[in-house]
Amino acid sequence: MTAQTQDTGHRTDRVVIRQLAWRDLDALEWDGQYTHFRRVFRANYEDMQRGQRMMWVAEVDGRLVGQVFVQMLSADPNYADGARRAYLYAFRVRPGWQGQGLGTRLMDTAEADLIERGFRVAVIAAGRDNPRARTLYERLGYRVFADDPGEWSYVDDRGHTVHAAEPAWLMQKMLGTRPGQD
Ligand SMILES: CC(C)(COP(=O)(O)OP(=O)(O)OC[C@H]1O[C@@H](n2cnc3c(N)ncnc32)[C@H](O)[C@@H]1OP(=O)(O)O)[C@@H](O)C(=O)NCCC(=O)NCCS
Repeated sequence: MTAQTQDTGHRTDRVVIRQLAWRDLDALEWDGQYTHFRRVFRANYEDMQRGQRMMWVAEVDGRLVGQVFVQMLSADPNYADGARRAYLYAFRVRPGWQGQGLGTRLMDTAEADLIERGFRVAVIAAGRDNPRARTLYERLGYRVFADDPGEWSYVDDRGHTVHAAEPAWLMQKMLGTRPGQD
């Protein structure tokens, strides 16, 4: 069937949401677009093995088409405190699969898992240049509580330290609530 390799429409019933496995790490690079995060992905995976993060992926016919990661412990308790607050990040769905509810399914899965672990608040950053993402998070029940300069550093796949600045709205949600109830 040729349709399984094409990024066009309405096959979301075949999409499975599951935890990332070690064998998936290369696929997170999305054919080169995210190769610079290779070391970050591996470090995040090791954190997951230690119970400090979760990495959720959406898979269809063996291909990863979306993801959201969850940081449960952070040095900054505005993001995550290891017990009540957790930070969702690296949220993306492949372009041909956007707008079909996959992002919402990924968020629902991440939030349900956090509730099971006893977490009460989910936090996410919406880029200031990304009002559509902010609209989605508001629809899911998130509300802005802080401005975030979004400054962070990582070591890229060639071992160079990269400093990034991605100004964002920090948004939070009481887990288990739906829009209109909070
Ligand atoms: C944001 C994103 C993960 C949502 O996943 P999705 O599967 O498209 O989401 P859903 O289908 O569940 O919800 C659709 C809503 O997502 C938002 N959305 C859709 N495409 C988007 C895009 N390219 N960029 C940002 N938000 C988008 C819109 O609010 C949309 O609602 P609308 O159709 O009424 O405008 C996905 O669109 C994406 O990967 N966007 C590019 C990367 C990105 O912006 N990530 C978020 C960083 S803050």
